[in-house]
Amino acid sequence: GEQDGAVGRVRFPRTSRRLPQCLIIGVRKCGTRALLEMLFLHPRVQKAAGEVHFFDRDDNYSRGLEWYRKKMPHSFPHQVTIEKSPSYFVTPEVPERVRAMNASVKLLLIVREPVTRAISDYTQLRSHAATASPSPSPASGSASGSGQQGPQRSFEELAIKPDGTVNVAYRPLSTSLYHSFLHRWLDVFSRDQLLVVNGDLLIEDPVPELRRIEQFLGLEPRIGRHNFYFNHTKGFFCLRNDTADKCLRETKGRRHPRVDPAVITKLRKFFSEHNQRFYDLVGQDLGWPE
Ligand code: A3P
Repeated sequence: GEQDGAVGRVRFPRTSRRLPQCLIIGVRKCGTRALLEMLFLHPRVQKAAGEVHFFDRDDNYSRGLEWYRKKMPHSFPHQVTIEKSPSYFVTPEVPERVRAMNASVKLLLIVREPVTRAISDYTQLRSHAATASPSPSPASGSASGSGQQGPQRSFEELAIKPDGTVNVAYRPLSTSLYHSFLHRWLDVFSRDQLLVVNGDLLIEDPVPELRRIEQFLGLEPRIGRHNFYFNHTKGFFCLRNDTADKCLRETKGRRHPRVDPAVITKLRKFFSEHNQRFYDLVGQDLGWPE
């Protein structure tokens, strides 16, 4: 048994901290938090608090699986423990490390239309830059990768080079090249261990996407219409269960800046070939506009 379960808190017998049987591996800004919170509405789902970043950070990974297990919530044997760290998807070492933990783990990959995702990523980076210290932090990566210095630059400036071509080195754009990261995962895991979740559908109408996931995880269908209500002020669905109503934080569902339609068109055209490669890899057409 567990030692820490005895400290102060009431804990059911038969529960223990278990390594996750399912991971939400990314993609950042595609609704990873919404997905985890929505799945947590299911009585057979437990979730890790926060993002553990076990597989993508060497300092955490070197602490070993027992360290990771102790970050997990208590669960009953019939429950599924889920952890989400969106940077798992883009970090090259991660698939092999995940396999070393559990070769039959289930993987959820949530994606959005790539240009929308890039603008969402830009919006988040800009809001962080606005609140951060004036000197750019060295941890934020190469100038071309994260590029928020001095006065705020527009998305158009960062996404399109002076010669009019797409700046693929700009991180919000390169992260949207889903196929370039996914192939590594499919080298290590079989296709049926991965479910691709449509993040745009999860925003519009979460229940059908969640039904697919329940099936994928071997859970009886329990999340339904009664678990959601549309919040017109927020512009998104909020979550409801027996005990509480809850919307995601204000950092989820930010207002995006207006982007020049000519730039959107150029980027959509640029991504169309990449999207096709992603569809081919997953055997599924997400129907993103060209
Ligand atoms: P925006 O803030 O750009 O709209 P992540 O959790 O991976 O960072 O993803 C954040 C995105 O989740 C938000 O991006 C938002 O569009 C999306 N999302 C999906 N369902 C949501 C919900 N019910 N409430 C708020 N945001 C939601």
